[in-house]
Amino acid sequence: MSESNTVTVSIENAIATVTLNRPAKRNAMSPTLHIEMADALEKLRYEKSARVVVITGAGESFCAGMDLKQFFVELKDNPPEFDRIFRVATEWRSRTLRYYPKPTIAMVNGYCFGGAFAIVEGCDLAFAAKEATLGLSEINFKHYPGGSVSKALANLLRPRDALFYAMTGRTFNGDRAAEIGFVNAAYPLADLKKEVMALAQEIASKDPDALAATKDGYRFSLEMSAEAALNFAAAKSDQLSMRQKDSWRSEGIGDFLEGKYRPGLGGHKAPAE
Ligand code: COA
Repeated sequence: MSESNTVTVSIENAIATVTLNRPAKRNAMSPTLHIEMADALEKLRYEKSARVVVITGAGESFCAGMDLKQFFVELKDNPPEFDRIFRVATEWRSRTLRYYPKPTIAMVNGYCFGGAFAIVEGCDLAFAAKEATLGLSEINFKHYPGGSVSKALANLLRPRDALFYAMTGRTFNGDRAAEIGFVNAAYPLADLKKEVMALAQEIASKDPDALAATKDGYRFSLEMSAEAALNFAAAKSDQLSMRQKDSWRSEGIGDFLEGKYRPGLGGHKAPAE
């Protein structure tokens, strides 16, 4: 593995932008990229200056999926290494992103194929350029949405849309991605970054512990019985009160009761770091 800097991270105004950085290869995910991404996400998890994480691609692509050469062909005769990279690749796109303690946003700026769908699904929110081209191309090379991709499709898309695109390999644009609920919205490429960063700023102004609880409440209750979800929610509330030193009650509700703001119409400002 002679590559490096396949992932870059910059932090500005509390927003970390994580960029898949192999533009000459359309940001296809090589083994090195998977390892560097796992490492970047691990560091950002504890980076206090980063409240929201935006994932995007360098140049004109978001991500062309798995690096078909470096992963599927070159590791074919090395099962232990294939297994190691497969585990890292699956872990960061599914479990790490799904249960990440900070809000995550996929900014799909261009080509988005195959394994890249798992990145988009793993993020809490996603936005695409209207001009982006997306597709489940696996069937076109005689394969199928493997790894965590099938589960990502099942989580997010309606059955008809998931199977239609997985069985035809047809491409679709950002508007269609929004229409089928794969992304929240599509914007002209020229506006995409501005729109996503404005939303990221809005979310970054919320209380970080409350955001983490919001994510956990949603993500984990999907996997629980109603009884377990209620029990989990009660425990989560206690955890939140402890982490915030009860400020949701004293400031969040207290400031409303003193007439300082209206929570129905806007947020209490997050404490500055
Ligand atoms: N794996 C490995 N290499 C890839 C790649 C991938 N998924 N996607 C692109 N590349 C490489 C190409 O091999 C080429 O390398 P080279 O310059 O050394 O020859 C380079 O990136 C540029 O690709 P190219 O096809 O010339 O660019 P393009 O802009 O004409 O087309 C794509 C871009 C993404 C449409 C096309 O490369 C493609 O179909 N890639 C495969 C997408 C795919 O099926 N992904 C699913 C994987 S799970």
